[in-house]
Amino acid sequence: MRAIQIATLDGPQAAKLVEIDEPAGDGAVLIDVHAAGVAFPDALQSRGLYQYKPDMPYTPGAEIAGVVRSAPEDAHVSAGDRVCGLTMLCGAMAEVVALPPDRVFKLPDSVSFEAGAGLLFNDLTMHHALRTRGRLAEGETVLVHGAAGGIGTSTLRLAPVWGASRTIAVVSTEDKIAVAKDAGATDVVLADGFKDAVKELTGGRGVDIVVDPVGGDRFTDSLRSLAPGGRLLVIGFTGGEIPTVKVNRLLLNNVDAVGVGWGAWAGTHPGYLLEQWAELEPLLASGKVSAPTPEIYPLERAADAIASLEDRSAKGKVVVAVR
Ligand SMILES: NC(=O)c1ccc[n+]([C@@H]2O[C@H](COP(=O)([O-])OP(=O)(O)OC[C@H]3O[C@@H](n4cnc5c(N)ncnc54)[C@H](OP(=O)(O)O)[C@@H]3O)[C@@H](O)[C@H]2O)c1
Repeated sequence: MRAIQIATLDGPQAAKLVEIDEPAGDGAVLIDVHAAGVAFPDALQSRGLYQYKPDMPYTPGAEIAGVVRSAPEDAHVSAGDRVCGLTMLCGAMAEVVALPPDRVFKLPDSVSFEAGAGLLFNDLTMHHALRTRGRLAEGETVLVHGAAGGIGTSTLRLAPVWGASRTIAVVSTEDKIAVAKDAGATDVVLADGFKDAVKELTGGRGVDIVVDPVGGDRFTDSLRSLAPGGRLLVIGFTGGEIPTVKVNRLLLNNVDAVGVGWGAWAGTHPGYLLEQWAELEPLLASGKVSAPTPEIYPLERAADAIASLEDRSAKGKVVVAVR
């Protein structure tokens, strides 16, 4: 089968199209892959900088959508089903994958393979972040950094259905404003000077939740942007630096810094992924939540797709079309 493989940790451009053997399907769901999602860990992994380090050479990509070729008899999916699935955290950019049944989910007919390949990783993370960890309540205001990225656009699509009455998107450049607006942002502000902009937008009150996949030097101003009782959700560190927090800030303003580790939670809570999908799937099927509208690259250009996250040029979710 055709697959992308990384044999040296030289960054995204090490991702090459190769022919390798198809995986065996013993006890697993065998899926003909139509599209694979690209996420920030793919860029980090290609340089050996992510906490999960696959054996070399490896096939990048954590999520797919496609059609079931075969499945164990007692599985909840069967041959011919349109599905999305999690390879977590590599193996997705290939024509065939073999997944355990609890990482395969039936895709609503209204959701394309390309959109389906680009929703699990971020939407299930944001379900965990906003619902389980962040305790998002009706009428609250959510601010999200990196708002034109994968996690960012997922936040903007999902927060309103779980109660947010206002979403404030933070982007670094003017050309990303439209992406955040299209994903549903109520307001968009630039990263430079975001604290003052948020203060003005909220009449000095601040926001209830900050979703932070960026970290770095924005962290302190994010804490300062929280209203009393607010929560800063620590999602990731695309900015590079892992910030430190002076805990007196938490005490003085009655705010929380909340860790969000979706993969670790799913790994220790059997059945969690299927429970999450049971909440998300009807929202997608009914159109209450829009599917992502990804930027699509052909498989031959997987390296450029991964590079677009590293060089910050990606707009919205990025997906590779596999067949
Ligand atoms: N905690 C969890 O369970 C979990 C699950 C999934 C993903 N994550 C993490 O979430 C983060 C975001 O992932 P993603 O797939 O959404 O990435 P993405 O699509 O590339 O979006 C990340 C955003 O970060 C911003 N950014 C700021 N500084 C950057 C820099 N130096 N380089 C690149 N981007 C920079 C960019 O927006 P601007 O240019 O507008 O600033 C970009 O749009 C990653 O750290 C990932 O590991 C965590």
